[in-house]
Amino acid sequence: MKSTKALDELFAAAAAARKNAYAPYSGFAVGAAVRAASGTVFSAANVENAAYPVGTCAEAGAIAAMVAADERRIAAILILADSSEPLMPCGACRQRIFEFAMPDTQVHSAGPGGVRASVPFAELFPRPFGPSNLG
Ligand code: THU
Repeated sequence: MKSTKALDELFAAAAAARKNAYAPYSGFAVGAAVRAASGTVFSAANVENAAYPVGTCAEAGAIAAMVAADERRIAAILILADSSEPLMPCGACRQRIFEFAMPDTQVHSAGPGGVRASVPFAELFPRPFGPSNLG
């Protein structure tokens, strides 16, 4: 299992946020942590809602916190859940990440025991719709 100080910090932030996940409907708690270009880490958990589609993913919350701090670049992102297969961001969150990521931004997928998989973002979102498509 890969482990560096920077990765450990992302993991710890995602794990702390995940403890506060509000997921009474799915029972699937997710924590996400993004490292912004400055090095600052922002984290969040998923927040579900009785009106199911209104619920938000952990990644969305972490990105919103990053933007609120006036950061605009994701250097790395880690998502943490207890799933049989390593979890990768959902389709909508890949679009959210694309807005602020670089093709080589590392996406780390972790379980409770640590990081299970790491891939460059471009691998997850090869044919994006982005700002350049708006002409
Ligand atoms: N979820 C996330 O927070 N991130 C993902 O990338 C996948 C799914 C949340 C949404 C919902 O609260 C629960 O996991 C089950 O889909």
